[in-house]
Amino acid sequence: IDELLAEGVAGKRIFVRADLNVPLDGTTITDDGRIRAVLPTVKALADAGARVVVASHLGRPKGAPDPAFSLAPAATRLGELLGADVPFATDTVGESARATVAGLADGQVAVVENLRFNAGETSKDDAERGAFADQLAALADVYVGDGFGAVHRKHASVYDLPARLPHAAGYLIATEVGVLRKLTDDVKRPYAVVLGGAKVSDKLAVIDRLLGKADRLLIGGGMVFTFLKAKGHEIGSSLVQEDQLPVVREYIERAEKNGVELVLPVDVVVAPEFPDLKTKAPGRPSTVAADAIPAGQMGLDIGPESRKLYASKIVDAATVFWNGPMGVFEHPDFAEGTKAVAQALLDSQAFTVVGGGDSAAAVRILGFDENAFGHISTGGGASLEYLEGKTLPGLAALED
Ligand code: 3PG
Repeated sequence: IDELLAEGVAGKRIFVRADLNVPLDGTTITDDGRIRAVLPTVKALADAGARVVVASHLGRPKGAPDPAFSLAPAATRLGELLGADVPFATDTVGESARATVAGLADGQVAVVENLRFNAGETSKDDAERGAFADQLAALADVYVGDGFGAVHRKHASVYDLPARLPHAAGYLIATEVGVLRKLTDDVKRPYAVVLGGAKVSDKLAVIDRLLGKADRLLIGGGMVFTFLKAKGHEIGSSLVQEDQLPVVREYIERAEKNGVELVLPVDVVVAPEFPDLKTKAPGRPSTVAADAIPAGQMGLDIGPESRKLYASKIVDAATVFWNGPMGVFEHPDFAEGTKAVAQALLDSQAFTVVGGGDSAAAVRILGFDENAFGHISTGGGASLEYLEGKTLPGLAALED
């Protein structure tokens, strides 16, 4: 983007593909981190006199307009953060978008409606995606990719559009890739990776890769119970992915063979049922040994001994990557494990990266100062796929 700015962008229409996929409660944004993350790029372009068209997906609508997934709240918030009037187009490439872009003054920023209201955005059919990319291309002279959270998606606005316009990477993508390179190219050891989240199937590829890369692999969240069951333990009514047991057993063996320390909880916080996250009614928690969860009890967080254990593995590491909460952090009775991991990252002298999505939101929702962490990635799936060593369509398209 610096080269683009040096060439001069005044009067040019610049399409910024951002990731404004923020968590919403109705129309209230509960965490605006992703909007703030794209501000440096948007501001730099606007300050240089560009006419900036910001586009993003939000949620997973089904290729047609759906008011529940409107980008309007994100556009309003972007306007507040910029301290400027940000016009909002009520469609993505239709009459409203064309008129909004045509009406932009130099240095002004507009937002168009959710890209995924158009079936072409996410289509698996190259021609259909290409046709939508053509419509997007008609809105702008130059493309700036800065939606790091979506670079792993082969979508029209991420992959096909940059091929149709002069293109550059924005500041957010440049920062994110710079940080993640430090975890893949010459990582400082000991390298500890903390992985949480509900489903082990989402993390298989990254675990596979890390078994040859990390020194310590700490497992938390719902996927813990598939690991515990694979080791032959009783897990009560906890979440389990039976079909993943063979692969998890293989990982446990491979960790041992490769000298990777695979850390599992020694105790867990359980309850008779999943807590009510809306009312936050008392969750009736109790702590039990991780190798003997009673029948009728469901594991919902790592226990106090595990918190100490995990913290000890984090604080003296030289590099830490964390993705995924340790428990049901949205409920106060099951938030302590996630809090303890966040605190350990802060207490550690390590280079720390919090990998996107739920863990980034958890850090902010639990009241931690996000600036105290080394780097909080805006990409959950994107940062994991980067660590898996995959070619990310949105990065490949910009490297061209
Ligand atoms: C994310 O939230 O990880 C990104 O915005 C990508 O969203 P998606 O998983 O719906 O493609």
